[in-house]
Amino acid sequence: MEQAYDLIVIGGGPGGYEAALDAAGRGMKTALIEKNDIGGTCLNRGCIPTKIFLHAAEMLESSKKAGEYGISMTAAAVDMGALQDKKAELVGTLKDGISAQLKKAKVDVYCGTGCITAPGCVVLKDSGEEEKTLSAGNILIACGSVPAIPPIPGIDLPGVMSSDGLLDLRDGVPERLVIIGGGVIGMEFATAFSSFGSHVTVIEGMQRILPGLDKELSQSMKMLMKKRGVEIHTGALVKEIRRDGERGLICVFSEKEELCEAEADAVLVSVGRKPYTEGLFGEGFELETERGRIVTDSDGRTSVPGIFAIGDVTGGIMLAHAATAEGRNAVSVMLGEEPEIRSDIIPSCIYTSPEIASCGMTADEAKAAGINAVSQKYVMTANGKTVLSGGERGYIRVVAEAETGVILGAQMMCERATDMIAEFVTAISNRLTVSDMKKAVYPHPTFSEAIGELIRQI
Ligand code: FAD
Ligand code: NAI
Repeated sequence: MEQAYDLIVIGGGPGGYEAALDAAGRGMKTALIEKNDIGGTCLNRGCIPTKIFLHAAEMLESSKKAGEYGISMTAAAVDMGALQDKKAELVGTLKDGISAQLKKAKVDVYCGTGCITAPGCVVLKDSGEEEKTLSAGNILIACGSVPAIPPIPGIDLPGVMSSDGLLDLRDGVPERLVIIGGGVIGMEFATAFSSFGSHVTVIEGMQRILPGLDKELSQSMKMLMKKRGVEIHTGALVKEIRRDGERGLICVFSEKEELCEAEADAVLVSVGRKPYTEGLFGEGFELETERGRIVTDSDGRTSVPGIFAIGDVTGGIMLAHAATAEGRNAVSVMLGEEPEIRSDIIPSCIYTSPEIASCGMTADEAKAAGINAVSQKYVMTANGKTVLSGGERGYIRVVAEAETGVILGAQMMCERATDMIAEFVTAISNRLTVSDMKKAVYPHPTFSEAIGELIRQI
C-alpha cells in the first residue's frame, strides 16, 4: 500500500537517524528504513565499540601506573569475553536511547532494505513481510560504507579480518597481531591491542603512518607507538598471506625492495572503507556515481531532483559527525532554508594515547594557499594537569592569519585532545581572532588552560 511522507531516509546510521530526528522535529512526516541495526557503523561496528575497547585499554594502562601513586593492586589483564558483554550492554543502552527518540519524534521506522525505483518512490524489501512501496517528496540516502578488502592472496584465510571481526573477538587476545594499513583504524587498534598485551606489527604502504595527517603529528605518533612496543613498517606492501603450521599466519611484504615476513595469530585489514549501495537502486533507476560513491553538490543534492545523499556513501570525509552535519544541512535545503552548519570545517580526532585532534589548516596548507600565516606551539610538559596525571609529552599548535589574527587551524597531540579541539572548531567556524580568544579565562588546573597559554604567546 502506498504511503505519503515528506521524507524517506534510507540508512539508520548517525547521518540517517539524526537527519530523520531533525526533519521530524521541524514538522516533516518522516520514515526511516534500516536493514540491520539502528545506529549504523558508528554505534554497532565503529566509533562506539572501538572507544569501549580504548577505554578498557586506558584503564589497563592506568592500573600499570597506579603503584606510582601509592595504590597497590595485582597485575590487571583484559578478559575479552567480559569486555564483549560490556560492549553489548553499552551499545544496547545507546541503541534503546535512539529508538526511544525516534518513537517520541513520531518517525516511522521500517526494518528492511530500501530500494529506490523512481524519484520519490522506495520499495521496502527483505522485511520479512510482503514488499511495500513508500512514497515521499524527498529521499535521503545515508547508506554508509563497508571495509575495503584489497586483492591480496590469502586475504580470506581464517584469522584475517576487518575491524568488524576484530571488534567481535571473544576468545582471548591474539598474541601477535599484524595490522595491514597504518591509518586511523590501524592506529586505534594498535593502541588498544598493544595495551591488551598483543605484539602488534603495522604494515603501511605509504612512507609514514597516518599519511593524511600533518607530518609532525604522524612522526610523533610513530615514536610513541614504538615506545609502546608496536613494530612499524612503512613504504611496505603486503604480497601474500599464508598459513604455515606452527608459525601461524605469515604476512609476506616488501620493504625497501626486500621481502620480509611477519608472523601473526590474527591479521587486521584496515586499508580504508568504500561506499555501500548494494540493493539500493531498482532496475532501470540510476543516479550519478563515481567509483562507487554517490556524487552530490555541497548541500547533498544528487543528480536526481528530490534525492539527497550524505555521509560515508558520498565518499570524502568518512566521519560520524560529518555525516550528521551533512544530514542536518540537507534537511534545511529540503525545507527551502539556508544550511546552518559549517560542514566544510570538520574536526578530525584519533583516539590513540595520547589523542590526536586537528581542525582547519596546518601551517604548510596555509602557506600552500598563499596565506601569510603565523603558527605557535605549546609543549604540554609545562601543563600542570598533564604532569600530575603522568601524561605523555604532547603539544598543541595553532595557526592564524598574520595580519588579522583570524584562527585558521589547530593541531594537537595530547591528553583529551579530542575534547579540546572543539574550542578551535568554534573559533574557526566563527572566524574568531587571537584577540577574541585572549579574552577568555581558562580554569586551573585543566588540560584546556594550555590553549589559553598558547594563545597568549602568539
Ligand atoms: P553508517 O553509519 O555506515 O550507516 C549506514 C546504515 O545504512 C547502516 O546501518 C546500514 O545497515 C544501512 N543501510 C545501507 N543500505 C541500506 C538500504 N538499502 N536500506 C536500508 N538500510 C541500509 N567516525 C568518527 O567520527 N569517530 C570515530 O571515532 C570513528 N571510529 C570508527 C571506528 C571504526 C572501526 C570504523 C569502521 C568507523 C569509525 N568512524 C568514526 C566512522 C563512522 O563510523 C562513519 O563515518 C559513520 O558511521 C558514517 O555514518 P553514515 O550514517 O554515513 O553511515
Ligand atoms: P584510512 O584511510 O585512515 O587508512 C588506511 C591506510 O591504509 C592508509 O594509511 C593507506 O596508506 C594504507 N593502505 C592502503 N592500502 C594498503 C595496502 N595494500 N597495504 C598497506 N597499507 C595500505 O582508513 P581506515 O583506517 O581503514 O579507516 C577508514 C575510515 O574510518 C577512516 O577514513 C575514517 O574516516 C574512519 N575512522 C575514523 C576514526 C576516528 O575518527 N577516530 C577511527 C576509525 C575509523
